[in-house]
Amino acid sequence: MTTTKPSAKLRDILVDQELSFLMEAHSAISAMVVQEAGFKGIWASGLSISASLGLRDSNEASWTQVLDIVEYMADAVDVPILLDGDTGYGDFNNARRLTKKLCQRGIAGVCLEDKLFPKTNSFIETAQPLTPIEEFTGKIKACKDSQLDEEFCVVARVEALIAGYGMEETLRRANVYCDSGADAVLVHSKKLTACEIREFMRHWNRDCPIIVVPTTYAQTPTQDFQNWGVSTVIWANHNFRASLHAMQATCNAIHDRSSVSVVEGSLASVDEVFRITNDDELRRAQAKYAWVACDV
Ligand code: SPV
Ligand code: MG
Repeated sequence: MTTTKPSAKLRDILVDQELSFLMEAHSAISAMVVQEAGFKGIWASGLSISASLGLRDSNEASWTQVLDIVEYMADAVDVPILLDGDTGYGDFNNARRLTKKLCQRGIAGVCLEDKLFPKTNSFIETAQPLTPIEEFTGKIKACKDSQLDEEFCVVARVEALIAGYGMEETLRRANVYCDSGADAVLVHSKKLTACEIREFMRHWNRDCPIIVVPTTYAQTPTQDFQNWGVSTVIWANHNFRASLHAMQATCNAIHDRSSVSVVEGSLASVDEVFRITNDDELRRAQAKYAWVACDV
């Protein structure tokens, strides 16, 4: 039996002519939920992983702490995981070391953005200085040259629209990053409509797949992305936001009434927790392998 490596699956998602989707996860359990829903790939969001640790999306979590979380995620699912690797946690050397460790732990790809370490979330209204093109292309090349898995995908994320550098600079950077060996380019925009993405796609005539993140321009019909030639859409933070909302509503209701009776019907059952963590498998394994003390 041949099993396709996660990295090869991610590569297929990126090059496939059909529009594909990566859904956000930030933990092993959220990754399992994403897989069960039928998604073919996962976005391990930096914002969501940070927030789930109670931290800001400013590289407050170290790269090895993120690596440990994404390893739990990879252990839990078969679908490929694209890690949001922010800036690669430093220079080319930090980024290529991250790449090697991700390959060893079965992560399918890493997305690196052309900002400065420590990064700031793209939606925070503050200066978002970009790294010089030459520095970023060296980083991409270093990652491509040191990946231990030949199918591993390095995605280059252009933040020029976020930083207010305009369309010309965005296209220039996207082209140069492709030339440097990036397997795909993520073009980020914080506009409330997809106007920048539409314009970018009008000018884009390379084979290199384009990834977009419709968070602020959430109202855009998904079919538009396919029509414009986008490869992959990332739903970037919706599981974390959904779980935060659900936890707040649950805590508030229980606190207000000093009772769990009001929420019981709206929660996953305890049996559902056992099911999704595959407790049955442990019972079967115990029957097969466990030593059982018996009275003499
Ligand atoms: C993330 O999910 O961490 C991202 C996307 O990088 S965004 O928050 O939109 O920058
Ligand atoms: Mg991020």
